[in-house]
Amino acid sequence: MSKKDTSDGLRPLFENNRAWAKRMLKTDPAFFDRLAQQQAPRYLWIGCSDSRVPANQIIGLPPGEVFVHRNVANLVVPTDLNCLTVVEYAIEVLRVEHIMVVGHYGCGGVQTVLSGQRLGLSGHWLHHVEMVRHTHAKQLDAIEQPQQLVDRLCELNALEQVSQLCRLPSVMNAWKREQALTLHGLIYDIHDGLLRKLANPVSSPPDLARWRKSALKSIWSGKSPR
Ligand code: CO
Repeated sequence: MSKKDTSDGLRPLFENNRAWAKRMLKTDPAFFDRLAQQQAPRYLWIGCSDSRVPANQIIGLPPGEVFVHRNVANLVVPTDLNCLTVVEYAIEVLRVEHIMVVGHYGCGGVQTVLSGQRLGLSGHWLHHVEMVRHTHAKQLDAIEQPQQLVDRLCELNALEQVSQLCRLPSVMNAWKREQALTLHGLIYDIHDGLLRKLANPVSSPPDLARWRKSALKSIWSGKSPR
């Protein structure tokens, strides 16, 4: 079998890119000049790498307005230098006001954990989702409907990542020096394109235990906050 020639595979993307840059300049001739000077986003998005969950499109923001970190299953792992660097930079240099952790229904990482499949390196990464499952095993094990089980773990996983975020030194220090910073746990529904709140936003450390308890209550009752 001869190997498929893919050397020119990016051609349509370059065409798209040129057309996009032209369109942007047509609506706002100073757009790129302005962005080249500096970025001043007010938001940090921590989401899944899933191609169906693109940050800017979902929240309708142009380049320059949302700082983004994505990984498989939208995890905030306290030993992950990549994520820690993004969070620290967002808080201390960009001074974002909001960090949103965005889970999504139908997450492949979450499904892999529930299926019991074990993949090499990704198995280590997904161990963090496994721990979320372990924490909530009693209630999760009582769910009979497979789809519902996946949905709940997607929600719980996003919520627990907000808990992790709350405990990061860069977040704690920001709150200590009274820098305005609010954390949000959200879930994106790939079936209707809508983002929903999983919990009330959290903006100071004394809230934590109470915040997590009430967030879990709303997840299990199926009533997300307005
Ligand atoms: Co995912």
